[in-house]
Amino acid sequence: MQLHIERLDDEGLGVSGRYRVPYTLPGEVVEPVRTFRKKRFIYVPEFRLVSPSPDRVPAKCPHYGVCGGCRLQHMSYKDQVRFKEEKLERILGFSVSVTPSPVIFGHRNRIDVVITPDGIGFRQFGSWWRVFDLEDCPVFGPRAGEAVSSLREYMDDHKLQPYNLKTHEGFLRYIVLREGKNTGEFMINLVTTEGGLPDPTPYFSADSIYHSVNNTLSDVSHGEPIRFWGAEYIKERLKEVLYLIHPNSFFQTNTYQAETLVTLVADHVDGETVLDLYSGVGTFSIFLAKRGFTVSGIEINPFSVDLARKNAELNGVSADFTVGKDSDVSDFKEYDTVIVDPPRAGLHPKLAKRLAESGPETLIYVSCNPKTYKRDLETLSNSYRLETVTGVDMFPHTPHVELFSVLRRRS
Ligand SMILES: C[S@@+](CC[C@H](N)C(=O)[O-])C[C@H]1O[C@@H](n2cnc3c(N)ncnc32)[C@H](O)[C@@H]1O
Repeated sequence: MQLHIERLDDEGLGVSGRYRVPYTLPGEVVEPVRTFRKKRFIYVPEFRLVSPSPDRVPAKCPHYGVCGGCRLQHMSYKDQVRFKEEKLERILGFSVSVTPSPVIFGHRNRIDVVITPDGIGFRQFGSWWRVFDLEDCPVFGPRAGEAVSSLREYMDDHKLQPYNLKTHEGFLRYIVLREGKNTGEFMINLVTTEGGLPDPTPYFSADSIYHSVNNTLSDVSHGEPIRFWGAEYIKERLKEVLYLIHPNSFFQTNTYQAETLVTLVADHVDGETVLDLYSGVGTFSIFLAKRGFTVSGIEINPFSVDLARKNAELNGVSADFTVGKDSDVSDFKEYDTVIVDPPRAGLHPKLAKRLAESGPETLIYVSCNPKTYKRDLETLSNSYRLETVTGVDMFPHTPHVELFSVLRRRS
């Protein structure tokens, strides 16, 4: 059987009737080798490429075509950006330009490597249990291959068992690597089930080594972290601002585009007082405080708030961070600008309605999900005019795209 790829869907998969084929381009012809069905579609993770597109480019990663992470490495970066612009236009109903990432290899500051008896690496496309053996990860950089090869030696020498995702037996579950791209600092977090960890320090060269225990059945790459060696935090720098990174804290994964994003935010804030709602570890807040704005942050996760306060101290600025919910804000009009960067689910409908009824003059909406953004924009659009909107490509070689936008209250 041959499949003719008609177009790419929003996930970057080639569409041929009800077949969805990763790693393809419109106009290509493939012969399926392995398929699986999920809901309405038949996915084709393995195929023979019968007729390649002239637009296809060689992938840099040795694991391209197997790894479920970078699905678009066969597209030139220019075409990836165009794909994201077209996707945004389909979803939003108007055209939006996408700011390309200034760096498209070595840009990721975090990877979570899965440790299983079948392989130590990443999951294959469409599977939570098929893991291939990682040699190199060009989107992270050379330290990925080095750390995984040291991990193999460490496991061999100490007879450490990998964790079986199906039977839940074994010890080592994940190795999480984090690297401050602008500082060079490197953190390793070994995530295991309950048990003592033999000394990893002779094997790894890092500024900080943690051991985290996740004894639950849930397949997550974090747990109760215990510092094994080195620094409690590593640091990352965005322009002139330093941020602390801890095994259990979130940080924007593309350092270079995070710089684009914080600069966009700083350039569009109006007035003096700013509310950073969903402030996380204070990425926007600290950057703005450093530029002289009076900033308050609200964030539900106490650990992130603690880190945001530490980030303020580290940078010698003051910003007021509160542990709280988005619904706790009593008066949005107290602030000249409100920034919202909600999780993928977007704004709660009640909150979007409240902002529409009594929001600030300037609302900066940063979104990682264009679909929920579109929904929220509909609620806000009677009261707000969309002044600026741009895509920010945080995730080269994947179909994902972040949105930055500025809304001004209609008079
Ligand atoms: C997309 S992240 C924003 C990250 C932040 N801008 C940063 O760069 O660190 C969304 C944040 O919203 C927080 N959050 C989720 N639900 C919330 C709620 N109901 N109220 C306040 N914060 C919430 C999450 O803990 C997370 O830190």
